[in-house]
Amino acid sequence: MIRPVIRPRRLRATPALRRLAAETRVHPAELVLPMFVREGVDAPVPIASMPGVVQHTLDSLRAALVEAAEAGIGGVMLFGIPERKDAIGSGATDEHGILNVATRAAVAEVGDALVVQTDLCLDEFTDHGHCGVLDADGRVDNDASLERYREMALAQAAAGSAILGLSGMMDGQVAAVREALDDAGHGDTAILAYAAKYASAFYGPFREAVQSSLRGDRRTYQLDAANRREGLREVELDIAEGADVVMVKPAMSYLDVLADTAAMSTVPVWAYQISGEYAMIVAAAQNGWIDRDAAMLESVLGIRRAGADAVLTYFAVELARSLAR
Ligand code: PBG
Repeated sequence: MIRPVIRPRRLRATPALRRLAAETRVHPAELVLPMFVREGVDAPVPIASMPGVVQHTLDSLRAALVEAAEAGIGGVMLFGIPERKDAIGSGATDEHGILNVATRAAVAEVGDALVVQTDLCLDEFTDHGHCGVLDADGRVDNDASLERYREMALAQAAAGSAILGLSGMMDGQVAAVREALDDAGHGDTAILAYAAKYASAFYGPFREAVQSSLRGDRRTYQLDAANRREGLREVELDIAEGADVVMVKPAMSYLDVLADTAAMSTVPVWAYQISGEYAMIVAAAQNGWIDRDAAMLESVLGIRRAGADAVLTYFAVELARSLAR
């Protein structure tokens, strides 16, 4: 009988051994919770395609922020849903616009305990639902959109956002926003560049979450799912333009891009487990097809193992609590 000499199973024999031998861990401090806040509602509105996630009122946002801080997560990423949308996304740059008001409220409530970050993109605020402004032919106008991003950055920095999440995928957006911030004395406001952001079917539930009016798609500015090298090119450009953090998004279908990015980046690398990734796990678990807790942990562990230093996930608070048990 041939007996194997090398026995990797030795280190898997007990929970204590497996715990000590684990190469990757998930810690609450590296989890970021995306949150939605909606203008003009007096009670939180559930998002049907994201069970457990709501569009907050300012009051329910404050309460949820306190819970998030108690759970020990690292930060939050705020998204605003304005009552009225228009062609240029005016609500995004209005200091009384919902995202800027919510940011002030969040910083006042939990600013010392959590890093309050904001999505810097126009799609929640435009009536056409695109991430930028349109030219006369209805195409997304890169440089005109950069002007709006600069204004939006100043509004968000003034509201106290610590990190601006540039998710619009316009060329040159990091350099444009960095310059605008520095010129206005906001040198301490950091930029999280959604550097390798792919056009994805998995954003579906998010469109409901922000009541997007988008028709068509974002394929002229977000990356093609077929392209790995191009993801790295975007990461390189964003680092060169001054990004403080680069992100890969979505996470699950792009773990190769994430691993590539982690291997070459000189700044922190984060990943976003997006709405559709959350919805799939929750829906399967609701049907009794998978174990929610185990799938939640495994999915985030996989993202960490691929190289993410931190993870944006709708599971952030739930996962932090389960890690503490
Ligand atoms: C753009 C933005 C989107 C998401 C985060 N920022 C939408 C998009 O690019 O279509 C998606 C997040 C998610 O699906 O959870 N404002």
